[in-house]
Amino acid sequence: MSSHTNLLSTVSFGEIESQNRVFMAPLTRSRSQQPGDVPWDLNAEYYRQRASSGLIITEATQISPQGKGYAFTPGIYTDEQIQGWKNVTDAVHEEGGKIFLQLWHVGRISHTDLQPDGATPVAPSAIRAESQTYTSKESGMVPVSEPRALDASELPGIVEQFRVGALNAKKAGFDGVEIHGANGYLLDQFTRDGSNQRTDSYGGSVANRIRLPLEVTRAVVEVFGAGRVGYRVSPLGLFNDINDSNPAETFGELATELGKLKLAYIHAVEAFAGMVRDDENERVHTVVRESFKNAGGGIYVGNGGLTPEDAEERISEGKTDAVAFGTLYIGNPDLPERIATDGPYNDADQSTFYGGDATGYTDYPAMETV
Ligand SMILES: Cc1cc2nc3c(=O)[nH]c(=O)nc-3n(C[C@H](O)[C@H](O)[C@H](O)COP(=O)(O)O)c2cc1C
Repeated sequence: MSSHTNLLSTVSFGEIESQNRVFMAPLTRSRSQQPGDVPWDLNAEYYRQRASSGLIITEATQISPQGKGYAFTPGIYTDEQIQGWKNVTDAVHEEGGKIFLQLWHVGRISHTDLQPDGATPVAPSAIRAESQTYTSKESGMVPVSEPRALDASELPGIVEQFRVGALNAKKAGFDGVEIHGANGYLLDQFTRDGSNQRTDSYGGSVANRIRLPLEVTRAVVEVFGAGRVGYRVSPLGLFNDINDSNPAETFGELATELGKLKLAYIHAVEAFAGMVRDDENERVHTVVRESFKNAGGGIYVGNGGLTPEDAEERISEGKTDAVAFGTLYIGNPDLPERIATDGPYNDADQSTFYGGDATGYTDYPAMETV
């Protein structure tokens, strides 16, 4: 008998009713079909295998050619991509699962080789990140390009990219969407003062820095309704060379505003392979959680470095409402079933995380049932 009664209990948030609190974290696997970054049968099979999750959040998916930062990641802006994702959502729904698409614009974490006509990647400010990206099999990992600062006149176009991404996700049959505001990508670049040094109304004060993220969120909410929209943050994340001078204040305000919009959930990356600051971790995430909920938001989804036992404890202590598992979900397609029997768990093979074929993707076995 499993002692994970909280983790395996149902949960309602926004318009969604989930069969358990074991969510699948967004995981880039770089296996879309080429050319065209199109989701295909292999991806549908992978997500189908994981449909017993309370909520699948897909891998980050570029909303436009400009929003792309890595080779082989899927998009949601062409008819082929929308049809490909429709096959994915059908597969998950056939198994009784729920699936949100993670809407992604990488901003400065890109390379001219990945941009249309070799264009310069865009960012709040023209500051190059000390970070790398993957441009092709031949080139492998390369430093990201120096970005150019977006002109204020271009910002409505960014909001529009997210709006169209949400519309396309709706056409593809998703139950909702998660806005990728974490891990040093475009919306995070605007939010944090290390990467946003603008002097117009989109930089400076916290209210200014979260202006674009909130404009994007309102546009996405118009498409799906707030009860089908989540937002991901990583207040203390260091991945992609990003930082903020006052994360509790910045992300507390952002969480309050997202709560006022009545979003279904806020999703926080509390730990990620040593790339999240440890100092004040509990305090900052408590501020985010309480600010969101007190303002009228739905549930708080915690993530990062948690075992099912940690997750159960955090839920019972009221520190999170659901937990998204990343690495554990790579190796264990039937994670809730395994949690119910206290394991055993398969290890995930890091060498097949990104790119390749079915190996290390759809060939992790489900538990033997007697
Ligand atoms: C292979 C891999 C791909 C990832 N891709 C994404 C992504 O597309 N979007 C995102 O927000 N986070 C991404 N992450 C971060 C995970 O969602 C998660 O925050 C991280 O793995 C920590 O959770 P865990 O300890 O349960 O694995 C990725 C992590 C890994 C290991």
